[in-house]
Amino acid sequence: MATPEGTEVVLTGLKPTGAPHVGNYLGMMRPALSMVDARPNSRFLYFIADYHALNLIRDAATFRALVHETAAGWLACGLDPERVVFYRQADVPELFELTWLLACVTPKGMMNRAHAYKAAVDANREADGRDDDAGVNMGLFNYPILMAADVILFDTDLVPVGRDQVQHVEMARDIAESFNRLYGDVLTLPAHLVRQDVGTVPGLDGRKMSASYGNTVPLFADADELRKCVFRIQTDSTPPDAPKDPESSTIFTIYSRFASAEQTAAMRRRYADGAVSWAEAKLELFELLDESLEDKRTAYAEWMAAPERMDAVLSEGAERARALAGPVLQRVKEAVGCGPAPCPA
Ligand code: TRP
Repeated sequence: MATPEGTEVVLTGLKPTGAPHVGNYLGMMRPALSMVDARPNSRFLYFIADYHALNLIRDAATFRALVHETAAGWLACGLDPERVVFYRQADVPELFELTWLLACVTPKGMMNRAHAYKAAVDANREADGRDDDAGVNMGLFNYPILMAADVILFDTDLVPVGRDQVQHVEMARDIAESFNRLYGDVLTLPAHLVRQDVGTVPGLDGRKMSASYGNTVPLFADADELRKCVFRIQTDSTPPDAPKDPESSTIFTIYSRFASAEQTAAMRRRYADGAVSWAEAKLELFELLDESLEDKRTAYAEWMAAPERMDAVLSEGAERARALAGPVLQRVKEAVGCGPAPCPA
């Protein structure tokens, strides 16, 4: 991919959470993929942040499976590995060299303030007699520095993230600034981009759809499972022919995210007119989901059945990522005075 100098670089890390659910798709995957289409002149790097998951997941088989399912999910949803540099973080060793170089300019106090670490310390303080750092590993503590390296290694301009990751991107920027103050204008300063237009997606019980609540609709479930899932969505006791409020309905909310504007408007009217029962609304949501997701489900099964093909895609992505990372790392090492003396001019 020949990208001219000065091209905007957009990068984000994808947590290996396994096969995605409808909330992941609507809240994260679909906007990330449409951003690629919307910016034909930008360079995109989307990677599986496997090393960021390693301080939590301690079983090799589970870890490998999560990474593969996550990669298959993105490919099945239309990530084009020709257009997007798509790789596993752990396949780019340059990242770990940069992590050290950045750690050396990162104030420890900044890491003390990182949300995840602070939350762990606060919990320990509340539990009497426990050491502040009980249960905290250095992977958790250094998490923001590794993330800063993820971003800085590619001269990233823009990092699309959810609200919970804004602090991390700000830290990456602060770290880059600290480095530049010492060594000159070496590192590109990244900015975060929080998607404003994607509201939260409700799950089966009406709370935000989340794996930790166990209220998800799996994105790649077969038709039977999908139907059962949709019929488990909680509703109230409004009678079949009574008017219903579309805005507070989980069924309507998910429906509208997949439907066309006309379909949504028509459904809204039927809710208001009492022209649709909960059972009918569920059936129509199921049919729409089933139709919208059918191709993705098939593609997912194909990727999962061909792990070698998926590994080949990821390895090729890593090669491209390394080709981009090499010169940046070189620039950083030269700036700090690592390596052989420069040739006399
Ligand atoms: N920490 C991010 C999350 O939990 C994942 C991530 C890792 C990331 N490295 C990144 C996101 C670099 C953006 C840029 O979702």
